[in-house]
Amino acid sequence: MTPGETNFAADMFGLIAPVYDFLNHLLSFGQDYFWRRKAASYLDEYKNITLIDLATGTGDILTALLRRRNDIKRAVGLDISKEMLTVCRKKLNWLDFSDKVELICGDASRTPFEDNSFDAVTMAFGIRNMPDVPAVLKEIRRILKPAGKMLILEFAIPSNLFIRNIYLLYLKILLPLIAGLVSGDSRPYRYLGRSIESFYSPSEFLDCMIDAGFENAAVRPLSLGVACIYSAVKP
Ligand SMILES: C[S@@+](CC[C@H](N)C(=O)[O-])C[C@H]1O[C@@H](n2cnc3c(N)ncnc32)[C@H](O)[C@@H]1O
Repeated sequence: MTPGETNFAADMFGLIAPVYDFLNHLLSFGQDYFWRRKAASYLDEYKNITLIDLATGTGDILTALLRRRNDIKRAVGLDISKEMLTVCRKKLNWLDFSDKVELICGDASRTPFEDNSFDAVTMAFGIRNMPDVPAVLKEIRRILKPAGKMLILEFAIPSNLFIRNIYLLYLKILLPLIAGLVSGDSRPYRYLGRSIESFYSPSEFLDCMIDAGFENAAVRPLSLGVACIYSAVKP
C-alpha cells in the first residue's frame, strides 16, 4: 500500500471498516457527531435538495442530513471502498433510510454523473486522502448545479502553538496506540496523523477552492481548530 494512490485508500479503509465508527467516536471524544451535525446545518437554506456525499464511508453525513430533514429529493453516497459501503448499507437499513439513498462504489475524482446534477455536494474527512485534490474540486464543481453548495469537513492542525503541540502529541503517539490496541493494526492511524499534517492549511485550502472556480469560499474552525468546515458555491 503506497500513500497517495487511489488503491491505497480503498485497501486501507477496507481494512478498518468494521471498527471505523467505533474508533471515530472514541478518538474524537464524540466531537465528530457535533461536527457532522454542524456541517449538515449549512444546507438548511436549501429546500427539496438533491445531494451527493463523496467519500461517504459509513454514511454518517448522510444520516445526519436525513435525520435533520425530510425534504431531500435524492441522496447519493459514493465511496471507493466496498467494505465501508457495506457498513454504510447496514446502518441505513437499521435506521430505515435505505430506500432514501443510492450507494455507489467509485472514485470521487471521476464520478458517473452528468454536469449540473446536484444542489449540494458534501465530503467529510475524505479530501485529505485523495491524490489529486484540484481534480476532485473540479469534479465537484462539474456535478454541482449553478448556485449549488459544496461542503467539506476536514481535519486541520490548530494554529495556537500550545494547543497545536498537545494535539500533535495526541495525533502522533496516543491515537495510533489506542487505535492499534482496538483494531490490532496501528498503521492506518499512523497514516491519519501524517495525512493531517501534510494536508493544506485552512487558508491554503480556501485558495484551492477559489482556484477551482468556487465563490463565497469560507472556513469555520471547530473544536479549537482540529477540524474545519469549508463551504463554497458554484457560480
Ligand atoms: C476518513 S473516511 C471518511 C468517511 C465519512 N465521510 C465520515 O465522515 O466518517 C474517508 C473515506 O474516503 C474514502 N475514499 C478515499 N479515497 C477516495 C476516492 N478517491 N474516492 C472516493 N472515496 C474515497 C475511503 O474509502 C473512506 O471511506
